[in-house]
Amino acid sequence: MNRVLVLNGPNLGRLGTREPEIYGTASLADLTQQLTEDAPDWQIDVRQSDSEPELMSWLHEATDTKTPVIINPAAFTHYSYALRDAVAMLSSAGVPVIEVHISNPHAREEFRRDSVISPVATGVIAGFGFDSYRLALSFLVSRSK
Ligand code: DQA
Repeated sequence: MNRVLVLNGPNLGRLGTREPEIYGTASLADLTQQLTEDAPDWQIDVRQSDSEPELMSWLHEATDTKTPVIINPAAFTHYSYALRDAVAMLSSAGVPVIEVHISNPHAREEFRRDSVISPVATGVIAGFGFDSYRLALSFLVSRSK
């Protein structure tokens, strides 16, 4: 069975109530349901952590098991070189890793315009709400055929 890890960084566990005017009112449980409906024959493992080491350990796991990753690094996007190095390991192992964002960080505050992750990601999808994740999954599904 095809498998994907969907990793979410800090504060994304609060989706549903966190700044709904930016992030909407749907929760991570809703995201899991949507992705599972999109690709019923895939094992979709949605995880969230506020902790950088935990996210890194999941990226290491993905590298060891060659599991593709969809990652919303949240605020770590903008400054975590540790996460970037873990993403780079995955890409250099030839495993797709797609950076996604719910909002369009380029249309927001100046500090959100830089991503230290994008240069080592396979691709980036931002600004489409949960559809950013769905588009990333649809890329992985079509690539697996
Ligand atoms: C975000 C954008 C980041 O700038 C922010 O820190 C987040 C969420 C998004 O999905 O739009 O936490 O990654």
